[in-house]
Amino acid sequence: SLVTPHDALRRARDHHRGLAAFNVVQLEHAEAYATAAEATGRTVVLQISQNAVRYHGALAPLARAVVEVAQASTAPLVLHLDHADDRALVREALSLGFTSVMFDASALPYDENVASTAEVAAEAHALGVAVEAELGEVGGKDGVHAPGVRTDPAEATEFVAATGVDSLAVAVGSSHAMTERTADLDLERIAALRAALTVPLVLHGSSGVPDSTLTAAVRAGMTKINIATHLNHALTDAVRAYLADHPGVVDPRKYLGAGREAVTDEVMRLLTVIDAV
Ligand code: G3H
Ligand code: ZN
Repeated sequence: SLVTPHDALRRARDHHRGLAAFNVVQLEHAEAYATAAEATGRTVVLQISQNAVRYHGALAPLARAVVEVAQASTAPLVLHLDHADDRALVREALSLGFTSVMFDASALPYDENVASTAEVAAEAHALGVAVEAELGEVGGKDGVHAPGVRTDPAEATEFVAATGVDSLAVAVGSSHAMTERTADLDLERIAALRAALTVPLVLHGSSGVPDSTLTAAVRAGMTKINIATHLNHALTDAVRAYLADHPGVVDPRKYLGAGREAVTDEVMRLLTVIDAV
């Protein structure tokens, strides 16, 4: 079923457990996540990023398909718009039935970030939709590795109070789009942010974080764990291996099917990693 994230976020935060959020680029991603959620009985967040929308040229076709996947599933699934800085896209997501949106105004000066995020939060909350924002830019979206950036707990507390967001993405040492799992997280900062804030904390760029550090981060207080690149790695490795073994294949269902299965398996494994508390 398609659900809002409020209960799952609250429960996960209270019990120091992770709520997994995985990115959808192709329909096969959503199918893999739903299969893993059904097999484990876990709530999973399916997220479509603004970048994925730019790739497809539109939000609605993929989003409508993912809404159908979620509604047909026996598992509770959240549909989240990831990394949107385009207010029109946020509105479109709200009209398509997304149950959660991330409005990312972190590139703006602080005051403007607060003002625009508060407006988006009010629009979303009127529809019962949850809002995630970001403070302390998580580097790497353009390949820039910025592991040194940290979110300040006092500023974060003020930001959440001023905007009314439901969860906050924080910079604690991770970087986006890492293909090697070598990131080191600032567990002390995570604990300080959790103690200072009442809303759940979101870890972006989790692909670069080793399993043991992900578990430690959840224990220390991270709640929503965003993973994209790592699963594309699994998918692409499986597709590459399938094509190498079957050079004559032309049916995409064969190799995408192999990729989808690899993603399902890796998601099942990751769910245990972030819930190993
Ligand atoms: O918002 C999505 C995540 O932060 C994914 O980052 O591709 O480095 O796992 P990642
Ligand atoms: Zn991210």
